Amino acid sequence: MTKIEDEFSRFEYEGWERVADKYDSVWSSLTRQFIPHLVNAARVSLGMSVLDVACGPGYVSDAIRKLGAIPMGIDFSEQMVAIAKKMFPGIRFAQGDAQKLFCDDASFDRVLINFGLLHLSHPEQACAEAFRVLRSSGKFGFTVWAPPPQSPGAKIVNDAIEAHADLNVQLPEGPPRYLYDQKEACRAVLERAGFDGYSMIYETRSVEWHLPTARYFFEAERDAGVRTTGLLARQSPERLNAIRTAIENGVRRFARGNEFVIPMAAHIVVASKS
Ligand SMILES: C[S@@+](CC[C@H](N)C(=O)[O-])C[C@H]1O[C@@H](n2cnc3c(N)ncnc32)[C@H](O)[C@@H]1O
Repeated sequence: MTKIEDEFSRFEYEGWERVADKYDSVWSSLTRQFIPHLVNAARVSLGMSVLDVACGPGYVSDAIRKLGAIPMGIDFSEQMVAIAKKMFPGIRFAQGDAQKLFCDDASFDRVLINFGLLHLSHPEQACAEAFRVLRSSGKFGFTVWAPPPQSPGAKIVNDAIEAHADLNVQLPEGPPRYLYDQKEACRAVLERAGFDGYSMIYETRSVEWHLPTARYFFEAERDAGVRTTGLLARQSPERLNAIRTAIENGVRRFARGNEFVIPMAAHIVVASKS
């Protein structure tokens, strides 16, 4: 893979290398729930060649294969690629940068990115790369998290961080956490990358994340991600404790039987290369 040049990408790379196993066991029960919406909106079908960018453990690629299409997964984390190869041995996975794809021009019918764009230092560059590697009339589809007003789960964490975290800690600057949460701004980004803005589908989907304990969400944020994990790692013990308590209290409001069921929302976006 090409050298990682900027500080945010290095932070992300080191983070994903560290938490790849945990991400799969902790978060993928949530992020996988959006895959059917993404592949449906992008109209993936039999025989298509589909690039799964920032593929992580490979679940999008697996869903593509189950539809009779031909997936290839790319992720810059060696650990993630190793997990994906082990989980889905029949699928091709390779290490590579979403912002500098090693693929030829016009070589795919679909490019999909499930919750990858907010982890890139230059998400617009990844959109431009998706455009380059798509055949004409191919489609680019991605998911991004919906912001707190639309997503109770995001609101729990956001409120706890706003109330108790020191936000002035040293962290490399990345794109907004709720990247492309405005429909028209998102259309403009896609048009700048070359896509047909009128073709854009922009829908918001909500799923239920079932948590076994009230503490699970806090521990997921503290131990199994990169951006929020980095912020929490830089808090004093007192602040961390206050954030933990606030998140636990927020989660308790969603108790259902022996578990906690948190509504989480994301935007599904698809645009065509005309
Ligand atoms: C939140 S995970 C999503 C994984 C997967 N798409 C899913 O739905 O479970 C984000 C992924 O983006 C990958 N990633 C971050 N920056 C990247 C980059 N510049 N190029 C390729 N992959 C990247 C990480 O290694 C990680 O696997």
